[in-house]
Amino acid sequence: MAIGNLKRTHYCGDVRASDIGKEVVLFGWVQNWRDHGGVIFIDLKDREGIVQIVFDPSIDENMHKQASKLRSQYCIGIKGKVRHRPEGTVNSNLKTGEVEIVANTLKVLSECENLPFPVEEYVHVNEEIRLKYRYLDLRKPTMQKNLIIRSKGAFATRKFLNEQGFIEIETPVLTKSTPEGARDFLVPSRLSQGKFYALPQSPQLFKQLLMVSGFDKYYQITKCFRDEDLRADRQPEFTQIDLEMSFVEEEDVMTITEGIIESVFKETIGYEIKRPFKRITYQEAMDRFGSDKPDMRFGLELKKLTDIVEKTNFKVFRNVIEKGGIVYGLNAKGCIDFSRKEIEDLTNLVSIYGAKGLAWIKVKQNELQSPIVKFFSDEEIKGILDRLEAKPGDLLFFMADTPKIVYDSLGALRLEIGKKLNLMDENEFNFLWVTDFPLFEWNEDENRWEAMHHPFTSPKEEYLDKLETEPEKVKARAYDVVLNGVEIGGGSIRIHRSDVQQKMFKALGITDEEAQIKFGFLIEALKYGAPPHGGLAIGFDRLIALILKEKSIRDVIAFPKTQKGVCMLTDAPSEVSEKQLMELAIKVKKQKKE
Ligand code: AMO
Ligand code: AMP
Repeated sequence: MAIGNLKRTHYCGDVRASDIGKEVVLFGWVQNWRDHGGVIFIDLKDREGIVQIVFDPSIDENMHKQASKLRSQYCIGIKGKVRHRPEGTVNSNLKTGEVEIVANTLKVLSECENLPFPVEEYVHVNEEIRLKYRYLDLRKPTMQKNLIIRSKGAFATRKFLNEQGFIEIETPVLTKSTPEGARDFLVPSRLSQGKFYALPQSPQLFKQLLMVSGFDKYYQITKCFRDEDLRADRQPEFTQIDLEMSFVEEEDVMTITEGIIESVFKETIGYEIKRPFKRITYQEAMDRFGSDKPDMRFGLELKKLTDIVEKTNFKVFRNVIEKGGIVYGLNAKGCIDFSRKEIEDLTNLVSIYGAKGLAWIKVKQNELQSPIVKFFSDEEIKGILDRLEAKPGDLLFFMADTPKIVYDSLGALRLEIGKKLNLMDENEFNFLWVTDFPLFEWNEDENRWEAMHHPFTSPKEEYLDKLETEPEKVKARAYDVVLNGVEIGGGSIRIHRSDVQQKMFKALGITDEEAQIKFGFLIEALKYGAPPHGGLAIGFDRLIALILKEKSIRDVIAFPKTQKGVCMLTDAPSEVSEKQLMELAIKVKKQKKE
């Protein structure tokens, strides 16, 4: 790498004491500029780190004069001699802290205008501004580290999967809808006016077709597109490590997945994960943690109380049970000092999930303080205290409602209390497989069954005859991998028989005609000697964010979108010209804002 006669010898961050006495050439950005009693010091920064450059007028007056014109974030090249830092000025926090470079050549390659914000690590800058000037934000060492680690993670994945005999195959981006539960992004076609491509929510159908073709082990690190409500761990376009294998069962896919995760942790942060991962069934996860992606770094488990309060005089609970609902409790150990306001805040939190109230009991030394104990018999109270292993100092919470509301509310309450009490060890990586998912999930809004994973997931053999008669009972051959309460991957063994696939569509209320239009090609492919197959996809952004302990996946994506799906940098999505719309035969009819 050279500019004129400056040929780079090192990255700034790579100069070491062993280079003392050598002449080096570096390129980088002026991170810091200081004038100490006539001697100018700059920190020169590139992606590998910073190194101190000295311009001493008593050594080279001309150099010093040139250096006095440097400003923050100028892009420069320098040549100079590496020397040991003077006694007392060694900076042991810096990889290059033992040395400095006395410059004898300075070339300003590019000046820098007034910056919109300081390009420094610990200055708080509003995220929208960071995203608008993402190229500057990405100059910060943490952001550079994040993307370098991400690259190492992708490389580790490819290396591992190639060693395991996987073949990387690209699948189309302009395609047809793949149902993964979100809305599609559509792309209008100019050549077939009035028709649209859908961007893939995942390569699901193509990877299954590749199994029919006999590729046997496929993978791809690929973008997926989903138009859904965005959050810290959701982007409209995100990256999956997607894989599919033939002639396999659950165990095979799980072993490969653990292998990928093990390699990625090792090659990115040198961390040895523990294998095999723990396993828990979906039902147990819901019963104990109120979540299908439980954070198992801490306890605070939910306890079922339905049987104890079945005949209670407390109408709220009895009515719920009579209507087929459930009653659960959670012991917030040692939380007796929570104030009314804190309990009110927690009640507001659970109301988001549809909870109609949050009953509680404070367990004091010789009495119980609570708005509800008066409704219970002594026997019921004893049963509740025993089940929740209540001790003086504890605060007990109760919820009666439909299973969904109870699980969602108490699951969220558990996480909130866990956070309040600091029960999650930031340094722990707690992996978990969740298995035995239900095949179907009831969609309240549309009043119909839908696939919990996706419609190509195989039911467990023993439930095949219940697909249409008792859909709520059918278990799927699906599995999710969870890390510290975040779903980082999910997959399943697929349906590989055309007749079963058609039965599945029927159970989902998809007519033959509709199935033919949407997935005819898959149904047909399954008729031509389709091998049994299965796979999984890892959310790569989430995995890397967790490895780096970043709260948001936006911090591990070079150019992410805001919560509203906007790219602050390019201003996408944006309006297009009348001509472009004409070519696509599209007329935009804006809905009036309220
Ligand atoms: P699934 O829909 O579970 O499975 O997606 C796999 C993983 O991708 C991640 N993920 C996301 N990450 C960021 N932003 C999003 N909007 C987003 N949506 C999902 C999650 C998730 O676990 N085709 C199936 C896989 C299979 O069956 O093989 C699929 O896409 O970490
Ligand atoms: P009420 O008799 O309606 O004043 O309720 C007494 C207590 O029960 C209050 O603390 C409510 O928050 C709580 N509560 C009401 N409905 C429920 C419910 N479905 N599950 C749990 N607690 C509830």
